[in-house]
Amino acid sequence: MIDSGKWSFAPIANTGCTTRNSWFMARHFLTISDLQPAELVQLIERAITLKNRHKAGLRDEFMRGKTLGMIFTKSSTRTRTSFEAAVTQAGGNSLFLAPQDSQLARGEPVEDTARVMSRMVDAIVIRTDKHSMIQNFAAESLVPVINGLTDDFHPCQILADIQTWFEHRGNIQGETISWIGDGCNVCHSWMKAAVAFDFTLKVATPKGYEPDEALAAACGDHVVIGNDPYAAAAGASGVITDTWAGMGQEFEKEQRLADFAGFQVDQQLMDAASNTAIFMHCLPAYRGVEVAADVIDGPRSVVWDEAENRLHAQKALLEFLLA
Ligand code: CP
Ligand code: NVA
Repeated sequence: MIDSGKWSFAPIANTGCTTRNSWFMARHFLTISDLQPAELVQLIERAITLKNRHKAGLRDEFMRGKTLGMIFTKSSTRTRTSFEAAVTQAGGNSLFLAPQDSQLARGEPVEDTARVMSRMVDAIVIRTDKHSMIQNFAAESLVPVINGLTDDFHPCQILADIQTWFEHRGNIQGETISWIGDGCNVCHSWMKAAVAFDFTLKVATPKGYEPDEALAAACGDHVVIGNDPYAAAAGASGVITDTWAGMGQEFEKEQRLADFAGFQVDQQLMDAASNTAIFMHCLPAYRGVEVAADVIDGPRSVVWDEAENRLHAQKALLEFLLA
C-alpha cells in the first residue's frame, strides 16, 4: 500500500496533482502527476536542448545566486551527483544534508524544517523512505520541493528515462513497454508516465510483488499487470527492470532472490521483445541477478545514457520550477 501520509490530499490513485502549498503556490515535483502532460513533453525537449548546449560549451546560468538544498536519508550516486553538477553548471550552489547533519535526526518536525529551510534556499530535493514525509515538507515549503526518491516513487529517474527514449526512439506515445521484476517505486513512476505520455506499460512481477493496486486501477488501460515475464515482453519496444531488493529491503534479499527466480532479464527474454527493443535500468544494477551481464553490457542497453540524462533532465526541471 502506498504511503499517502496524514494530509487529506487527493488519493494516491488519483493521477492528478497530489501536492499543495499552504502559503504560496510553489510548484513541487513529488510525482510525475505534478506536471501536466504538455509540460512534461516541453521539459523533455528542453532537457535535450540543454544537453546539446552543454556539450557545445554554452552556459545556462539560471541558478546564479541561488541555492539548492538537498536532504538525503538514503544512499545515492546518480541523484546526488547529477543534482550537484546541474546546480554548478547552472551557476548556483548546493547544500547537502546527510541524516546526521540536520536536526531532523534529533526529532525536529519535518514541517518546521521546511518552514526554516525554504526561507533560505531556492529549491529542495529530498530522498527518504516515507512519501508522506516529502508531502508534509512540501505542504509547508515556500520553494519547490523535488522528490529524489521515496519508497513509493522516483519521478526524476523517469524524466531521464523518457529523455533517453526520445533520443533513441523518438516519441514514446503509443509504444508498448515492458517492466519486468519488482512493482517498486521506479515501476510506480513508469506507470504514471504511461498515463502522462500515453503509452502502454506491461508489468510482470512475481505473485505478491505487484505494484500498488489503486494506482494500477487509476492508470486504466495504460498499465497491464501480470505474472508472466514472456507475456509482458512479447513484442515490446523496450524492456525495463530494477533491483529485486531496493534500499530498505536488504533484509528480504534471500527471500526475494528465491521469489524472483525466472524474472531475470536475459537474452532469451530480450528476444521475446521487438528486435529493435532497448533495455533500460535506473541503476545500481546487479549483474546475474535481475539482469544478465550480456544484456546490460550489450548493444541494446541504454543505461549509461539514462544515467547521464539525470543531469540534463534535472537541469530542465530546476529551470522550470524556478522560473
Ligand atoms: N538511479 C538512481 O537514483 O541512482 P542513485 O541511487 O545512485 O541516486
Ligand atoms: N528501487 C530502487 C531504486 C534505486 C535507485 C530502490 O528504491 O532502492
